[in-house]
Parts: sequence; structure tokens; C-alpha cells
Amino acid sequence: MKGVILAGGTGTRLKPFTKVLNKHLLPVGSHPMIHWPITKLKQAGITEILIVTNKNDVTDFQEIVGTGEEFGVHLSYTIQIDNGGGIADALYCAKEFVEDKFVVLLGDNLFDDDLGPYIEEFKNGQQKAKVFIKEVPDPERYGVAILDGNNHSILSIIEKPKATNSNYCVTGMYLYDKEVFELIELLEPSGRGEKEVTDLNNLYINSKSLKYEKLKKWWLDAGTHEALFKGNLHYYENQLEADKEHERQ
Ligand code: G1P
Repeated sequence: MKGVILAGGTGTRLKPFTKVLNKHLLPVGSHPMIHWPITKLKQAGITEILIVTNKNDVTDFQEIVGTGEEFGVHLSYTIQIDNGGGIADALYCAKEFVEDKFVVLLGDNLFDDDLGPYIEEFKNGQQKAKVFIKEVPDPERYGVAILDGNNHSILSIIEKPKATNSNYCVTGMYLYDKEVFELIELLEPSGRGEKEVTDLNNLYINSKSLKYEKLKKWWLDAGTHEALFKGNLHYYENQLEADKEHERQ
């Protein structure tokens, strides 16, 4: 399976840094943020990776992570023309790259779970689309999954609701097959002018073909100053030693 990392967008919530630097190149520990999704995909056995980013940022990415050689992966790049077009619009840029089933990571999402077993199961199964949810104290910041009474399925996903009874946020890891591109073509921009991944996933819900799984370990969307700080804290508390060990090998 191939992997797609979405690393464009405007990074508004991380201004002023994002006036001059793409959000996904800001530091998490001693690495640029983009290091982490690449490493996660590699850990899951995914070595063909497409990075979708903005026109003005692509050379920065190429300088920092290049062809992916140091990670043992092959990185290619494509440009999202409208950097405010939304996640589903960015994903559409992967249409020519993808062959069949694939994994999408939002480049600002940090996962402690090993994604490999989830990806492997999807690869071998019959499912068309899968999302990963996590219980959070502040669901209003995210796409929120409303589960049925038995927790068997997601009834709907609401993007950044003002209030909700569900604490389950939809994280930035998505598994799809190639049909996703036909569905993206059906999407209209939302109120904030973006083609929303939540609208896309709701199309799958409408046809009863969205599966979900609960992540077990720590997860973070590092897209705000406070969250980025938490990401760094987590790194220095948990990852630093593992990193040093890796460098010694
Ligand atoms: C995006 C998605 C949202 C999802 C979140 C996960 O939000 O729109 O559904 O829960 O990523 O990180 P954004 O961070 O772009 O506002």
C-alpha cells in the first residue's frame, strides 16, 4: 500500500511562524514535524509516500526530507493549488499517485499507536473506508464522531460542533480505496470554503461503508501553539531516549 501525507494548508493557528515556514516543518523535539508521519508510515511498512503541500513550501520540504533516503522510504511531492481548499481537496491531488487502497495521514497528527496492524487489516479486508477515533476533553476542536448506542458504527461526523454529547474525535488517519476520488468530486466547499474530509466521510456513512477503530495510545493534533508545546513535551518525556538509542545503532 502507498501513503499520502497532507502537509499543506495555511497554518493560521500557528501564526506568526507559519508566515514564513510551513506548519509541518516546525520542530517537534529535534525533528521537523513532518519527520513523525514519515516515520510512522515506515514503521507500518509503507515506503512509497506522497507529500501534498503548497507551491511556496515544496522546496523547503525537499531540502529537509528530500527523497526520503534517510528514512528508508521514497518520497515524492505534489502541489495543492489552493492552499485553503481543505483536506479533501488536498487529498484529490493524490489521485494519480494512488493505485488501490492507501493510507492518508494529516502531517500535523502525532500518533503513539503502531499503525501497522490497522493498515494490514484494511489491506486484506473488504472495507472501503476507515477512520480512527480518540476520546478527547475538547471535541469541539475536531470532527466529532457520533456513535450508535452499541458503539458498532458511526452515525455521523460533525465538524467542529459548538456543543456535542460525544467526546470522540476523528483523528487525522484515514484509510480509503481509489473510489474516494469519485466521492471527492461530489463535494461542495463548506461554510468555511473548504472541501471537508468530514463531508467526505459522511458520504461513506450514508452508504454504510465507513468503519472505525478506537486508537489505544497517545494522539495529538499539533496544529495550535498549545498543542505544539504538548507535542514537544511528549517527545522529551517519551521519545528522546528512543531517538538517542536509534542514533547509537
Ligand atoms: C482536521 C479535520 C477534523 C479532524 C482533525 C484531526 O481539522 O477537519 O475533522 O478531527 O483534522 O486532526 P483541522 O485540524 O484541519 O482543523
